[in-house]
Amino acid sequence: MFKKLTLSALTALTLSAGSAYAAGGEAHVEDFAFSFEGPFGTYDQFQLQRGLQVFTEVCAACHGLKFVPLRTLADEGGPHYSEDEVRAYAEQNFEVYDEELEDFRPAKPSDNFPANTGAGAPDLSLMAKARAGFHGPYGLGINQFVKGIGGPEYIASLLAGYTGEEKEEAGTILYENHAFPGGWISMAPPLSDGLVEYADGHDNSVHHMAQDVSAFLMWTAEPKMMARKQAGFTGVLFLVILSVLLYLTNKRIWSPVKRKAKQG
Ligand code: HEC
Repeated sequence: MFKKLTLSALTALTLSAGSAYAAGGEAHVEDFAFSFEGPFGTYDQFQLQRGLQVFTEVCAACHGLKFVPLRTLADEGGPHYSEDEVRAYAEQNFEVYDEELEDFRPAKPSDNFPANTGAGAPDLSLMAKARAGFHGPYGLGINQFVKGIGGPEYIASLLAGYTGEEKEEAGTILYENHAFPGGWISMAPPLSDGLVEYADGHDNSVHHMAQDVSAFLMWTAEPKMMARKQAGFTGVLFLVILSVLLYLTNKRIWSPVKRKAKQG
């Protein structure tokens, strides 16, 4: 009976692993080293600011960030702009439709980033958590224990993964991309070397801009990551101290009994 169960479980595992692998294609996702990885990793404020710039100047033409409030750009642990800077940024870059005015007006910090569905592009607010970069080996996802889920790695690899080949299918132009499952995506390569001019003179090759905007999108998807890690650390520290105290208490409570046992 047991043998039969193990056998069928094994068969099911190999079958599902096989099909998951097939569905994932041979997509290639590079394991970038982001500052926010690991139990003590934090967002790099300046990288988030560069990523916001890439998003604003390039991606916002097609993609929205409708779940992200503009005011959070001032949050500590995020891009951490001053409130005046956020107000100026919102006014200069976005217009929102105001129901009371029945007209468009410049965005305020109390608005969210606008939605943008015109180009048929998905909203990017949660994209870094909605995609996984690491599926292997054989679709079992065991890599994820070591490397993380790989959402930001996937986005960065996608942006830097164009081969330059394109084809037309049913009236749509598709671009060949190493990281996209299936290998052909309808998003034209959005980045090219030197496209965005960084104020701090940081490297603006496709490879770097892709990482900056992916870090920014990780922040939009999980803005409280640093608070979560800190709470986890405090929790573990508390449990360690509690364990030591319980150990000592235990020794103390039982010491008279043990002494008697030895004497007897
Ligand atoms: C010209 C319009 C356009 C621009 C500019 C653009 N995108 Fe896209 N993007 C699209 C479209 C269309 C899709 C849907 C592609 C598909 O599913 O074939 C897409 C899909 C995506 C996806 C989802 C891929 C998936 O796994 O489904 C990500 C992530 C993405 N874009 C990120 C970005 C980032 C980051 C930028 C800025 C650097 C950007 N895009 C700029 C049009 C655009």
